[in-house]
Amino acid sequence: KEFPEYVEGLVRGDPGGFVLTPHYGEHAEELYNFHVRPDDIWVLSFPKSGTTWTQELVWLIANDCDFEGAKRDLNVRSPFFEFPYLIPRQEVSSYGHLPPVEKQMQIREKLESPRLIKTHLPLDLLPPQLTDTCKVVYVARNPKDVIVSYYYHHKLIKFHYFDGDMESFAHRFMKDQVWYAPYFGQVLATWEKAKNNPNVLFLFYEDLKKDLGGQIKKVAHFLGKSLTDEQLAKLVHHLTFENLSKNSAVNKEDGKKHGVFNADGNFMRKGETGDWQRYFSPEMSRQIDEWTELNLRGSDITFVDKI
Ligand code: A3P
Repeated sequence: KEFPEYVEGLVRGDPGGFVLTPHYGEHAEELYNFHVRPDDIWVLSFPKSGTTWTQELVWLIANDCDFEGAKRDLNVRSPFFEFPYLIPRQEVSSYGHLPPVEKQMQIREKLESPRLIKTHLPLDLLPPQLTDTCKVVYVARNPKDVIVSYYYHHKLIKFHYFDGDMESFAHRFMKDQVWYAPYFGQVLATWEKAKNNPNVLFLFYEDLKKDLGGQIKKVAHFLGKSLTDEQLAKLVHHLTFENLSKNSAVNKEDGKKHGVFNADGNFMRKGETGDWQRYFSPEMSRQIDEWTELNLRGSDITFVDKI
């Protein structure tokens, strides 16, 4: 399969105008009508923005630093809301090691409270009462590093069938031809929502990199939890890229065992801010800056793309 042909298989979601698969479209209403609970915590993000990192951080704080419990697979502790409806129907069989598609929603519904649910869906496509009922932690990352990380993600995951180069991927990204696009659509909507809704905490990947301890405290405060200095130090240690990338409960290395990932490459790839500088020519970088500026016109959000 060629990538352009594959893109034609994507659909514009309703009502948000987001790019998702037809398989998602069949389940969009069910997901929209999902029953949320007041003690749910949701982690939202655009793919490759530091979701897994934030999920592990939030799970540990919500579960009073239960490092023993955190040895269980993160996907089980914190399910991916729209998975596997997100992936093309014909590809679901590659996930034969997981519970059948029709059981997936029941699993989410039956999870014990407090549930920690991960999603990349924009607010428009999520249960409308979500931000008035639950706690939502959103994590955003500068678009240049998201593009690089998403490119490698397309190379890693077999069913993306992507064999283009970085530059062509960056153009696809800016043309909204990737799952969950438009990138700025969801980032800006959540940014605005977080301004006047105390249930929404907006984090940046770059702040997590720069001051992990400070961001952990911020999340703990948001969730109404207190941490001892010892717990805080343990969390910081546990959540460094070095440690998390070696943690088999979190690093998704089993994707290789199950044949879903290609053998060369890792989900926990590099964990840096500014990696884009190795890939984008000055001209490419200028085009992304121009696209970013155009999309951020009128918004007070600012991204840091080097630290
Ligand atoms: P890179 O591809 O740039 O390395 P997501 O979980 O949203 O898919 O995001 C994945 C990105 O977060 C990857 O980025 C991954 O390496 C990075 N990441 C995961 N854990 C991290 C950590 N502890 N510190 C820094 N980056 C981390």
